[in-house]
Amino acid sequence: MIEEKKLRESETLPLSASVPASDYVIIGGTGDLSIRKIFPALFLRYLAGQVTDDFRFFVVGRRKISAEDFRAKLEPHCLPNIKSKGDAAISMSLFIDLISFIELDINKPNAMEKLASLVLAKANQDRPVIFYLSIASSLFSAACQRISEANLALPQSRLVVEKPLGHDRISSQAINDELLKVFNETQIYRIDHYLGKETVQNLMALRFANVIFEALWNNGHIDNVQITVSETVGVGSRSQYYDQYGAVRDMVQNHLLQLLCLVAMEPPARFNADQVRNEKLRVLQALRPIAQGNFVFGQYQDYTSEVAAQSHTETYVALRVWLDNWRWAGVPFYIRTGKKMKTRASEIVITFKKRPHDIFAKNGVTDSSQDIPNRLIIRVQPDEGLRLLLTSKEPGPGGMRLFPSELNLDFHETFSERLPDAYERLLMDVARGNQTLFMRVDEVLAAWEFIDPLVKMRADSIPILYRAGTMGPSDELLSKDGRFWIDPKDEVHGFS
Ligand code: BG6
Repeated sequence: MIEEKKLRESETLPLSASVPASDYVIIGGTGDLSIRKIFPALFLRYLAGQVTDDFRFFVVGRRKISAEDFRAKLEPHCLPNIKSKGDAAISMSLFIDLISFIELDINKPNAMEKLASLVLAKANQDRPVIFYLSIASSLFSAACQRISEANLALPQSRLVVEKPLGHDRISSQAINDELLKVFNETQIYRIDHYLGKETVQNLMALRFANVIFEALWNNGHIDNVQITVSETVGVGSRSQYYDQYGAVRDMVQNHLLQLLCLVAMEPPARFNADQVRNEKLRVLQALRPIAQGNFVFGQYQDYTSEVAAQSHTETYVALRVWLDNWRWAGVPFYIRTGKKMKTRASEIVITFKKRPHDIFAKNGVTDSSQDIPNRLIIRVQPDEGLRLLLTSKEPGPGGMRLFPSELNLDFHETFSERLPDAYERLLMDVARGNQTLFMRVDEVLAAWEFIDPLVKMRADSIPILYRAGTMGPSDELLSKDGRFWIDPKDEVHGFS
């Protein structure tokens, strides 16, 4: 039986909680995001047994696409991740059978009649109906109207949207208002895919499932925090969008601020959506408005030829950020992100304060090569893991010589299974009705409130050009403070 042959890679995919059978309606389902991220993630969950044959998928697009063409587009994004490719091809056929293809123009009234009859035929309270708007935000309002007039805004319906949710606070508010006309906040899932990354969630486990760090997690013991998200790719085919947005709006407003929130937030009383998001919101509200001297903008050298325009859009940004609260008063958070940089890596580096007194100093003078602070390095991607830099004694006789050593937790070595892609978790969380890893409207707006003045200041400045393949423009942001960037994968005090 073909059914028996269906691949269930339980040995390679982590076991996970069950998810109610759901209908996923992907509006813009033939587009890039759907093909590269959404459907590969759903397929991997199908292989894992979490998505069952009782699920239904509706690919909604303006142009007609056949099941064969869709499959041909999808396969290159799915199969490289799978070990047993032959069996996966069989599973792919079964998976494709779960998809219906619906052609409609979202701007035409009553365009969703056919979709509605299919969805409503199986509708019941326990079967989530998930609308994923994989379209430009300028079409969100029309999509919500179509959903509403087709009576598909059911109590069990959910809406998934992606950034960019506006380009500033006002436009973001306007988009959110449109969504809220049809759905209530508990039905809206705003994706920041960084929150679905394993190590990002692990940051919460590290902080709130262990006792050893919490006592040190404050301005009494932490000297500074650095967050780096560096990419090796340029803007590529997205130049039109990117040139309007720049690194501040494309990356800092969402991913970097979310990482900062998870590092800086207070422990919530419970691990649930509202409590976690309340604490993140408090961090965003504690951000000190950015002032001159606290930012650097850069642009990689070839950028203007790629976007075919004279442009001052930043492809790199570094910020020194302060949080005005008791826990973090006086601790700078240095955050940076850029395209066409030397390495692709996302890392959070917590540098602890130096020892208050050095009992090993010779004649009262500390050998600076031995004067190394403790560091906790959280590697978000790739090569997910944690490293703790400690100081140890160099073995052997001949006096007390100190050297930096490392406690290393490599998640790939520890967990032999494949780490799931962010979209796999996030898409399953929507079906489960768990909003913890999605952004609430007030978080999005608070982030824009911090970003808006920065965007204005950017408009008045000219970015520093940097060579592709470097870590961005050299700057004085840290050196003025007597510090330096800890580059991912750099040989920093013995780190490799
Ligand atoms: C997206 C940005 O949100 O995140 C892109 O729009 C960026 O510009 C991407 O390349 C980075 O995501 P990841 O998961 O590759 O780090």
